This record gives sequence, structure tokens and C-alpha cells, in this order.
Amino acid sequence: MATMLENFIVFEGLDGAGTTTQMQLLAEACDRSGRRCKATFEPTDKPLGRLVRSILKKQIVTTPLALAMLYAADREDHLHNPIYGLVGELEAGKLVISDRYLYSSLAYQSVECDFDRIAALNDFPSPQYIFYIDTPIDECIKRINLRGDEAELFERAEFLRLVQENYERIFATLDPAVTLVRLDGMRPKQEIAREVEKILFSE
Ligand code: TYD
Repeated sequence: MATMLENFIVFEGLDGAGTTTQMQLLAEACDRSGRRCKATFEPTDKPLGRLVRSILKKQIVTTPLALAMLYAADREDHLHNPIYGLVGELEAGKLVISDRYLYSSLAYQSVECDFDRIAALNDFPSPQYIFYIDTPIDECIKRINLRGDEAELFERAEFLRLVQENYERIFATLDPAVTLVRLDGMRPKQEIAREVEKILFSE
């Protein structure tokens, strides 16, 4: 991976781990303290991200590799789109907070595809921080069921076990420019949020 994008912060974890909640709480903390930030997520709500979601919802059938390529295309657009790209937001001096980034592709897509192929598709810059919300699989499944989400392709315990193993493998060989922070996903969400804020803002 080539470069590291300063002030780019990503949340990663299994489905149901709490990444969306923490992304939102951090954005609220930025607003309260007058820091300019952009909160965002992948897959995006832009056309390529919508295409990904329609595959997850089984409205479109394709192959795991085609899906991996679409996640990567959505990510390229998310970073570099001339109108709403994140790199532009960072250059404008904002803190950019994303619910998921390329580590989700490495962890999820490499369950069904060759890891090196997925890594090659995701040769994107590293973020400054990865906050990994470590939540036990049983708890993730409980939360997914409570949400009453339509059963998406990936939301199954056996699958999540493989994804979790992949995350560990990725984190063992991470770009040294990235700071990885593990958060205990069983703690109350406000406590987790305070820990994140302490790490980012108490200098
Ligand atoms: P997300 O919208 O975060 O799901 P939810 O809101 O239900 O938590 O992400 C949709 C799914 O896509 C989720 O199961 C994780 C998966 N995913 C990948 O497999 N690869 C990726 O690169 C990304 C960004 C997400």
C-alpha cells in the first residue's frame, strides 16, 4: 500500500459489531467541539455502492470476484470522485471518518476469493487510524437479529467466524504507518466513544 492519508479514520468490525454507531458518535463529538469532519461509509450510497447493495440483497446475481471488483470500484470513487471524493475533503482540512474501508474487502471478500487477488484490487492509501470494534460473534448475531434486517448474504455465524480470522491475519501484517486500535465491543457505546475521542483528541 502506497501512502497514508492523515486525518482519515476508519471503523472496522463484524456485522453487528457497532461500527455505524461509533462512526456517528465520533461525528457528533466533532460537531460538539467545532472540528470539521465528514462522516461516511462503504459501500457508499452512490451509484456503485447501490449496485453492491443490490447484489447483497440478491436482486442481482453475480460472482464473488465481480462483487469484490465492485466494492473496489465503489472505494476508488469514494476516494477520488471529483465532486464528493474523500481525498478532496481531507485536502480541505476535514477529519474524514468512514464506517468500513478496504480492510472489510480484505476480510470479507477473501472468504470466497483468493486473498492476493483481493489485496491487488485494494491497493489504496492507508488511513491514519483503524478502530477495530472487537465484538463476539454471538453478540453480533444477536444484534443483527434485533435489527430485523433483511438477511443479507454475509450475516451468518459461520461466515463471520471466517471473516474474524481474516481480520486477525490482516492486522498481523499491517502497514506500519497505520495505527490500529482495538475496542472492546461489549462495553457501553458511550464508553467506547469516549475512548476513541481520548485517543484522537487528547494531545
Ligand atoms: P454495511 O452497510 O456496513 O452493513 P450493515 O449496515 O448491515 O452493517 O455493509 C454491508 C455489508 O458489506 C457488510 O456485511 C460488510 C460487507 N462489506 C464487504 O464485504 N466488503 C467491503 O469492502 C465492505 C465495505 C463491506
